[in-house]
Amino acid sequence: MPQLKWYRVFKSPQEANDRIPQGKLQLVRIGERRICIAHTDRGFHAVSDVCPHLSESLSKGSTNYLNEIICPWHGYRFNLVHGQECQNRTKALTVYKIELRDDGLFLGV
Ligand code: FES
Repeated sequence: MPQLKWYRVFKSPQEANDRIPQGKLQLVRIGERRICIAHTDRGFHAVSDVCPHLSESLSKGSTNYLNEIICPWHGYRFNLVHGQECQNRTKALTVYKIELRDDGLFLGV
């Protein structure tokens, strides 16, 4: 398995919470990758921003109480932990590692 490279997205937990409050989504770019960070009541999650159905930007969507991200175009729902679409209507989302540490929010790519 290739080594993860960690990127610091925010400099503190406070900044992470201020910039992406619970219930919100944020697009970040790491090189060529478009990654959507979701903040739910179960913490921060990171998935590909590109919907596997027809490529809509998931950061324009929303989340729900099931800890899913909902695509704004056709409403497909993806689990934020493993990326699976709830009815297997399309392939799973790529899920990235994300860690909230004392010195910031880090994405593992
Ligand atoms: S483009 Fe996302 S559900 Fe169709």
